[in-house]
Amino acid sequence: MIVTIDGPAGAGKSTTARELASRLAFQFLDTGAMYRAVTWLCLRQGIDLDDERAVAASARRGDFRFQGGQVFVDGHDVTREIRRSAVTNDTRFIAANNEVRAFLVELQRELAVGANVVTEGRDQGTVAFPHAECKFFLTASPLKRALRRQQDLAQNGEQVPIEDILAQQEGRDQRDAMREYGALKPAPDAIPIDTSELDFEQVVARMEQIVRSRSGFPASRLNVTFGTED
Ligand code: DC
Repeated sequence: MIVTIDGPAGAGKSTTARELASRLAFQFLDTGAMYRAVTWLCLRQGIDLDDERAVAASARRGDFRFQGGQVFVDGHDVTREIRRSAVTNDTRFIAANNEVRAFLVELQRELAVGANVVTEGRDQGTVAFPHAECKFFLTASPLKRALRRQQDLAQNGEQVPIEDILAQQEGRDQRDAMREYGALKPAPDAIPIDTSELDFEQVVARMEQIVRSRSGFPASRLNVTFGTED
């Protein structure tokens, strides 16, 4: 079973997707981390991010591993580094690279073969897994999203004014929506959830209930039947 969660940055996708996957004993795929990991690799190799072919070649050569919330690139643990502003801001070049997108969608599908997966990103319900059994589209007000991002950065040791975050966020939203391939938009069959006024537990509980109702198994049997924890 594939559960997709798409939506803009700061809507709460990562935390809810991770928790939902854990409750269902499904694998969790953080596809934003993949774009971030490719960005990290290209920056490290000094590749011109505008050079689409060089970036794509570097992505194909890289060794990317995603293990229990940690991200490794060519053996380096980059879990924290890929969340820094420098990487976040440059990820737009990677996300706009169609060859990299095709490569990462391929990788996402490979990782999902034979598995029960909760996957989150921008294009999971539209491009990567159009036949997913259950799709969600998470949103929240721009201010709520910016405040969450500010909190995440603070936890990572970066203090950024809210005005800067709002401005960057607006730019990212526009680029995500305008992208030629893999643009951020809800799949026609996605269930929209506005997380602005809901707390974490309410969001996860609502999603879990919907997934369980669609899986066709009684709640008590679900973990046994779908038990493929990472
Ligand atoms: O969700 P995030 O902030 O970690 O995503 C990082 C970047 O990757 C962001 O610019 C959007 C892009 N992205 C994408 O284009 N497609 C995805 N499936 C996931 C993320």
